[in-house]
Amino acid sequence: MFHLKQALSAEFLKELAESTARGLGRRDCFYDQFHYVNRRFVEEHFEKLAGLVVAAVSDVRPGVTTRDLTYVNDFVAPVNLANAQIHTRVKGNKYDWHNDGIDRTVRPCYNLWIPLYRQSALGALDDQSLFDVLTPASCPRLYDADGELRQGVLWRTKAPSSLNREIASKLVDVPLDELDDYMYFHGGGKTEKIPLDELTPVSVVRPRLGDCYVFDSSYLHASGPSTFERVGISIKFLLNNPALGFRAMPQGAVPGGWLGMFVCWYGKQGGFSAYQEVLDMYIKHEQPLLQANADKLDCVRSVLLQVSSELGGNSPA
Ligand SMILES: [Fe+2]
Repeated sequence: MFHLKQALSAEFLKELAESTARGLGRRDCFYDQFHYVNRRFVEEHFEKLAGLVVAAVSDVRPGVTTRDLTYVNDFVAPVNLANAQIHTRVKGNKYDWHNDGIDRTVRPCYNLWIPLYRQSALGALDDQSLFDVLTPASCPRLYDADGELRQGVLWRTKAPSSLNREIASKLVDVPLDELDDYMYFHGGGKTEKIPLDELTPVSVVRPRLGDCYVFDSSYLHASGPSTFERVGISIKFLLNNPALGFRAMPQGAVPGGWLGMFVCWYGKQGGFSAYQEVLDMYIKHEQPLLQANADKLDCVRSVLLQVSSELGGNSPA
């Protein structure tokens, strides 16, 4: 994970918070994680935002420029907010270990993560991690020699039923009361376990307003244990140049729904602009779901407006 310290001005953060709040007010997004709410903002500020990714990855991808990057999507990740469970399937207000769907089809993709928070949240900011990434260097057993995640069942990601816990206990030969001390995955035809203390993630601790972070979204990542309340803005870019590592995964199953549609449209058009019209069609279709969850949109929107007003005219904290 790459940490870009104080890369964004208070003015830019304010614009970002306001763009997001405005999009939520207009219901101009998907419901799940408010995807694409900043698509026009990203288009307008593409050079700046993609430039941050370039700055972050230029050591590992020498020669990369913003022309090698394609915007894929953006989303809003309110974490630890009481009324912001903004996903039809994930009911919690944190993210458990996962890698992103599009990376199973085309990659490399990089997520640019920009934390926004209110000053009142700072009381809960301590040395606990906000966000963790398991990189091949930090946890080699989870990845093969090419840095590919050894795909499989990761029983840390979904709480199994009591029946499945019992069956898992027999499968991995771990007593029931010790089952939660490991992460499990199935790779190379067998199920393996890794003690949790062997997982040494790269962590985000004590971010400052204006900092941002870039990570390869094919690596496992999750919210950390911190109770710090924030609204993360995440923007995903695809490195589209084969000379710099772009590839379509040989047997990548296209993800379902609109993400799969992006992959297919990208294959057809080689870019994002033709997809705008499709997004508008999806967003129109999302309106009943957005309306039914208006309280959650309003909760996040009001936090963002407060962030914006705190940023007004002052230097970021
Ligand atoms: Fe993710």
